[in-house]
Amino acid sequence: MTQDEMKKAVAQAAVELIRSRLSADSIVGVGTGSTANFFIDALAELKHLFDGAVASSEATAERLKGHGIPVYDLNSVSGLDLYIDGADEFDAGLNLVKGGGGALTREKIVAAAAKEFVCIVDASKRVDVLGAFPLPVEVIPMARSLVARELVKLGGQPELREGFVTDNGNLILDVYNLEIREPKALEAELNNIVGVVTNGLFARRGADVVLMGTENGVEKVLP
Ligand code: A5P
Repeated sequence: MTQDEMKKAVAQAAVELIRSRLSADSIVGVGTGSTANFFIDALAELKHLFDGAVASSEATAERLKGHGIPVYDLNSVSGLDLYIDGADEFDAGLNLVKGGGGALTREKIVAAAAKEFVCIVDASKRVDVLGAFPLPVEVIPMARSLVARELVKLGGQPELREGFVTDNGNLILDVYNLEIREPKALEAELNNIVGVVTNGLFARRGADVVLMGTENGVEKVLP
């Protein structure tokens, strides 16, 4: 099975998981990335069963609209039951690294608004210790160098994501060489650096369940 086939299988499994929870007034939080795209395509088949979606990026909003799924501003809804999104890494505690696609801030906001976060990944995303994937940090442009120096003090090696601007008009520093043994503490510490908008650690609000596509089918992983 190819990686894309695993992503497709897990996206389909997520749709099956949430199908019975959808009703005419349901609004679903939807993530960003290639796995989330497969999810959107599968979700489109059920569009008659729910009201619409809140998107975690402009790209996701466009894909949802392309399928005829109404997209709502988060400020116009009172909360979300479900958020479905991919990840770049997850560990046994269902702490995540996200933001490979640069949408981490809106992803974190939509995840925070949802009662349940269903994370959909292929098996390559499972790790013992987070940090092999460079940790994305979204920064206000004028604070780029200041934040980079602080990240070096923490033992990381930040690299500017060249030619990339987030949906919020900011920059991304990808931080290499972090071995993240205490994800909750590091998430808070990074968010305390002046000029950081948010970072790609999803530990304070990690996933509630991970659906993982493997060679042998989809596994449900709980913390
Ligand atoms: C987007 O900013 C990310 O957080 C994605 O959710 C993450 O990079 C996973 O992407 P793929 O599903 O493309 O691997």
